[in-house]
Amino acid sequence: PLTPTGDIVRSAAAAGRGVGAFNVIQLEHATALVAGAEAAGAPVILQVSENAVKYHGTLEPIALATLAVARRGSVPVAVHLDHATKVELVHEAAELGFGSVMFDGSALPYDDNVALTREVVSFCHERGVFVEAELGEVGGKDGVHAPGARTDPDEAEAFVQATGIDALAIAVGTSHAMLEKTAALDLDLITRHRETVSVPLVLHGSSGVPDEDLTRAVKAGMTKVNIATALNQAFTGAVRAYLDANPKVVDTRKYLAPGRDAVATEVTRLLGVLGA
Ligand code: G3H
Ligand code: ZN
Repeated sequence: PLTPTGDIVRSAAAAGRGVGAFNVIQLEHATALVAGAEAAGAPVILQVSENAVKYHGTLEPIALATLAVARRGSVPVAVHLDHATKVELVHEAAELGFGSVMFDGSALPYDDNVALTREVVSFCHERGVFVEAELGEVGGKDGVHAPGARTDPDEAEAFVQATGIDALAIAVGTSHAMLEKTAALDLDLITRHRETVSVPLVLHGSSGVPDEDLTRAVKAGMTKVNIATALNQAFTGAVRAYLDANPKVVDTRKYLAPGRDAVATEVTRLLGVLGA
């Protein structure tokens, strides 16, 4: 069933479990993510990013489809707005029934990030919507990898106190959209954040992290683990293999079904890695 993100994230944090948060671009992603989570017997977060909204031109159609898929899940399923930089998009997501939003002011000067994030928190908390924010920019959002960025734990807790957010994304060695699992995670820094920061921690750009380090990151105190690129690799790889083997196929269902199945299988595997 559709479940508040806060319920899923807070109970996982209390139990020291990871929660998989996976990106939805097409309807097939949403159905695959829920099927994969059901096979794992684990809760899951379906997230729609501002970039995916740009691709579709508008939030509502993909949002309503994702919410409908979430409602039909036999495991707890949350729906989240990922990497929003526009406050209006946050408002729209909250009104559509999303359980959470990520407001990403990480590219802004610190004071602007605090001011805008606070505004988002006050709007969202009146509506029971959980808010994630980011401090210390995790690179790769623009295709330029910057795994060297780091978030300072004391600044992180000051940011949490100043904004009232419910979860914090921190830079600890990952970068978005990595195609190889070569990110070097700063596990000691995750431990220091866990000792210092009073809200659940979020890892972005997790596709570049080797499986063993994802497990270690959760043990060190990461809760929400965002994965997108690795699932698109699984999806596209299966579609490409099908089309190579069947060059005359025209029915889109024929090649999207293997893509969807590949995503579900990978999600089940990843939720095991995360101890979800
Ligand atoms: O917000 C989404 C994630 O941070 C996904 O990053 O595509 O590198 O797995 P990724
Ligand atoms: Zn991200």
